[in-house]
Amino acid sequence: MRTTTVSKYILAIDQGTTSSRAILFTREGLPAFSVQQEFAQHFPNDGWVEHNPHDLWDTVKRVCSAVMKEAGISGRDITCIGITNQRETTVVWDRHTGEPIYNAIVWQDRRTSAFCAELYENGREPMVREKTGLLLDPYFSGTKIRWILDNVDGAREKAERGDLLFGTVDSFLIWKMTGGAVHATDATNASRTLLFNIHSQQWDEELLDMLNVPSSMLPVVKDSSDDFGVTEHRFLGSEVPITGVAGDQQAALFGQACFTPGMCKSTYGTGCFMIMNTGDTPLESNNKLLTTVGYRLNGKPTYAIEGSIFMAGATMQWLRDGISLLKSAGESLGHAEQVGPDHSVYLVPAFTGLGAPYWEPNARGAIVGLTRDTGIAEIVTAGLQSVAYQTRDLLEAMKSDGVESLAALRVDGGMVVNDWAMQFLADILDVRVDRPFVTETTALGAAFLAGLKAGVYSSLEEVQELWQCEKTFPPSMEEAVADRLYKGWLNSVEGVRNMAK
Ligand code: G3P
Repeated sequence: MRTTTVSKYILAIDQGTTSSRAILFTREGLPAFSVQQEFAQHFPNDGWVEHNPHDLWDTVKRVCSAVMKEAGISGRDITCIGITNQRETTVVWDRHTGEPIYNAIVWQDRRTSAFCAELYENGREPMVREKTGLLLDPYFSGTKIRWILDNVDGAREKAERGDLLFGTVDSFLIWKMTGGAVHATDATNASRTLLFNIHSQQWDEELLDMLNVPSSMLPVVKDSSDDFGVTEHRFLGSEVPITGVAGDQQAALFGQACFTPGMCKSTYGTGCFMIMNTGDTPLESNNKLLTTVGYRLNGKPTYAIEGSIFMAGATMQWLRDGISLLKSAGESLGHAEQVGPDHSVYLVPAFTGLGAPYWEPNARGAIVGLTRDTGIAEIVTAGLQSVAYQTRDLLEAMKSDGVESLAALRVDGGMVVNDWAMQFLADILDVRVDRPFVTETTALGAAFLAGLKAGVYSSLEEVQELWQCEKTFPPSMEEAVADRLYKGWLNSVEGVRNMAK
């Protein structure tokens, strides 16, 4: 029995790394109105990346009121809210004033590298891996919290007195939206902090001790589809329940309706995040993939395995803005169609090191295989192809971790509009690639999670039926050709890794 009328919307808030977005979804899972706003990035030191938490909150407030204005609705027309967010980014604020005591330290920030290396030298990684499914890397929140407590005047004393709160961006927004009434997160976000035991689904004393983080700072960990309180009246002009929360990549897994073990999605934004549902088994990787919570419903975690690569769309951005080989990313299609997939040039986009499965922070990019007739078209095509080759690296790592071959890969993110790139992806993986009608799957996942709790949807099956494929790309390249091309990629990566030694 439905508790809502069809005229109402679900509001999805997607607080990402470079912008905040608000999307109003119909109950059929269609994005009806959408507003996006960018905010400033701060790089106060080499390898440091920060956001002003006020910018995060202000842009969220602005996009929410703008989207309501555009749709001509009031807060009463919103059934429920789903929040999805850039993961790992760390905010610490004063419990009494709500004021952050330092900028948000962004997931990309490398300032705690030396400390992570020290923990590694001290043999702590196996314990961390076993409990959290993660690696000792500055990427995750735990060492960022410790840095704030150790480097902001008076912070540690305040934290020990119980005056400070920690949150990933979802928690900070929930706190703000509920006027300080709720300090909570969901299990997907908690699973990225380095403090959360993904087996017991609890904050872990040993990890808190290792990173010297007082437990009084931590949010309550809820299901991804749960009651996160109601918004203060002044936020949307009425009290609206917040009923769905998930980190953005897990939200995309949910928005792609990857509900059964073996289903897998890949999101091609700035970077690429490939996540496979592994069901109730937290699959341990021997290939430096991350084990994480995919979503948690009714207290039951569904686990996932994740491979992250740093440069996908960002490679095309570099070709356009960095070396001006393209006027627009869309131009790459013409170049690729002209050159075709089988040529000698490889672009290894290790601009900020290599992510999974290599985790080689000191590697740097290269273009190899140049000949006298290499031109712009070959280099641009090699840039597009690098995205597919890196995805195959992740797939190979998943396979050697015991995952069976994929039936299909569901794709989303800005780059998936490029048909040539999607066909090449299918060819190089030898896996069918499915592109959905709604490619805003991150926000859609948050909307689905919120709608499930609010009674808009009654089951996962009902949500599953709303997912629709827009175009499917079956593999069509001869396997021997695909393997030869991929071998060339592996050789190029090997060269890049050797240079980093
Ligand atoms: O783990 C980082 C990821 O959540 C960031 O995603 O889309 O904000 O770049 P995005």
